[in-house]
Amino acid sequence: MSPGDEFIAARKLYGGSINQFTHAFKSFGWNVVWADTDDVESFRRAVSPKTKAIFIESIANPGGSITDIEAVADVAREAGVPLIVDNTLATPYLIRPIDHGADIVVHSLTKFLGGHGNSLGGIIVDAGTFDWSKDGKYPMLSEPRPEYHGLKIQETFGNFSFAIACRVLGLRDLGPALSPFNAFMLLTGIETLPLRMQKHCDNAKAIAEFLSGHKAVAAVNYSGLPSSKYNALARKYAPKGAGAVFTFSLKGGYQAGIDLVANLKLFSHLANVGDTRSLIIHPASTTHSQLDDAQKTAAGAAPDMVRVSIGIEDKEDLIADLDQALGG
Ligand SMILES: Cc1ncc(COP(=O)(O)O)c(C=O)c1O
Repeated sequence: MSPGDEFIAARKLYGGSINQFTHAFKSFGWNVVWADTDDVESFRRAVSPKTKAIFIESIANPGGSITDIEAVADVAREAGVPLIVDNTLATPYLIRPIDHGADIVVHSLTKFLGGHGNSLGGIIVDAGTFDWSKDGKYPMLSEPRPEYHGLKIQETFGNFSFAIACRVLGLRDLGPALSPFNAFMLLTGIETLPLRMQKHCDNAKAIAEFLSGHKAVAAVNYSGLPSSKYNALARKYAPKGAGAVFTFSLKGGYQAGIDLVANLKLFSHLANVGDTRSLIIHPASTTHSQLDDAQKTAAGAAPDMVRVSIGIEDKEDLIADLDQALGG
């Protein structure tokens, strides 16, 4: 990206990404153009000669909606730009975006990949599928680099040129280097990913089903439930399970959200997700408390909504804890 360039991003994204795209990237002269996650044509309409990439989440945080990766990949291919997928909530165990047309996949390692809530990190995966030399659109990769004596990154490194550029340009100049100890912790976590992820998903489905039938609960938004409008996409893209982060709303409204978090004994009150332990947050009274009710609802943090990240404890214990905290 150069100053004046654009990229298209799905509107349903982790809040930190929305902030970064809207505010921090502005000072680099990079402009985000928003598209509707549920309307592929809105991505097509957003394409302009300045578009450099399309960015989506496979399973969106916090709503848990599933993006039709293949349909958005078609738009990216037609536009001649790479599709970047944030696969944090799915992990490669549930969804492999490159198999569905993604060119670059990014994960926060802080969540399910590390898995234990003990290390910060991130990873960029270069599928090696994108031709950066087309149309002179990506000169950083296709043209000679003066600081490397005229070396052309794509010509030299071929199908891992983007990954190399991230290291020899981005990491060198901006410094987001992982500490060796965190790298050790994250690698140890990744070794048990399939075991943990399956248990996370099985627990989440059981808890979503329990909550759907509870008298204090107004609605459950979990794409693993047949009632979800994302269920067909979940079955296509994530057949092993629809992840473990989802939201639900309470008939008792705002105060019921505060009371539920206070009454739970086994769930931890935390803004993180993807920990072995079950986590809960009531965004309206915490992370989004500065907004008015209309703004909260628009941001996906309605006053009556709580978000859970289901851990790998025994599901009977989690259900019993939720039941007592919801008043039985
Ligand atoms: C989908 C998604 N992407 C990225 C991040 C950022 O992760 P980190 O805290 O490791 O910067 C998060 C954090 O919640 C997330 O949910």
